[in-house]
Amino acid sequence: MAKILEVTDLCKTYITNKRQNNVLRNVSFSVEEGEMVAVMGPSGSGKSTLLYTVSGMDSMTAGTVLFGGKDISALKPAELAALRLDEMGFIFQQMYMLKNLSVLDNIILPARQSKANTLSAKEKLELGKELMRRLGIIEIADNDINEVSGGQLQRACICRSMINDPKVIFADEPTGALNRQSSNEVMVELCKINAEGTTIMLVTHDARVAAKCSRVLYIVDGNIQGEYNNTGSDEKKRERALNNWLLEQGW
Ligand SMILES: Nc1ncnc2c1ncn2[C@@H]1O[C@H](COP(=O)(O)OP(=O)(O)OP(=O)(O)O)[C@@H](O)[C@H]1O
Ligand SMILES: [Mg+2]
Repeated sequence: MAKILEVTDLCKTYITNKRQNNVLRNVSFSVEEGEMVAVMGPSGSGKSTLLYTVSGMDSMTAGTVLFGGKDISALKPAELAALRLDEMGFIFQQMYMLKNLSVLDNIILPARQSKANTLSAKEKLELGKELMRRLGIIEIADNDINEVSGGQLQRACICRSMINDPKVIFADEPTGALNRQSSNEVMVELCKINAEGTTIMLVTHDARVAAKCSRVLYIVDGNIQGEYNNTGSDEKKRERALNNWLLEQGW
């Protein structure tokens, strides 16, 4: 399988109040097409920063990130913006949904912005509705963003992340704000999307969520301390084995 993401010696340093904070320290890993990778680790260890830098949302201090073989730090801002719009989907903690648009219009916004998306305006609307039906939220298509529940909003974010048929979806704690049932439902959908071929990289604090992924990266102090491959199809066994490994990692 081809590598969709190849990260080598990635460093990210924030300077706050003249103090240097080395948040990512020479992180190297790669992700194969079709994988579903979970990033875990203590709060403040650099998980969100890792997602932001490998997806080009934030700049890196040093190192290389190849996305589909392209060096993202060599791209011009407009090229990077196009790559993110056309080949990446995002489900992030702060939702970045626009308040003056309906849920459906928010979902299809990336399709309207993409120059590579050749669907007609009507087809984009239809696709948006189709995704909403699939995620079970078609009844809120015309609602405002503040007229929906957290679980519905999270599903709307998944629809939006899929609208341009991305190669990779990056998700930062996609189930973080959800109760157990909504969390399970969202994970069922993400697993289906992954099974259909979309690579997924997600950050989570929930071992049950991570157990559904093919691989887990454990980050401590801006470094990958360990990697774990989930094996077997029995969900309970996978969870137990992963939990044991996480305990060894200091979870
Ligand atoms: N924009 C920023 N400017 C300065 N420092 C930042 C910025 N974003 C994050 N940091 C710092 O980088 C470190 C890692 O933050 P990050 O958000 O990546 O952690 P995390 O592993 O996602 O934590 P959590 O599990 O709590 O979400 C923290 O020390 C944080 O204070
Ligand atoms: Mg975070």
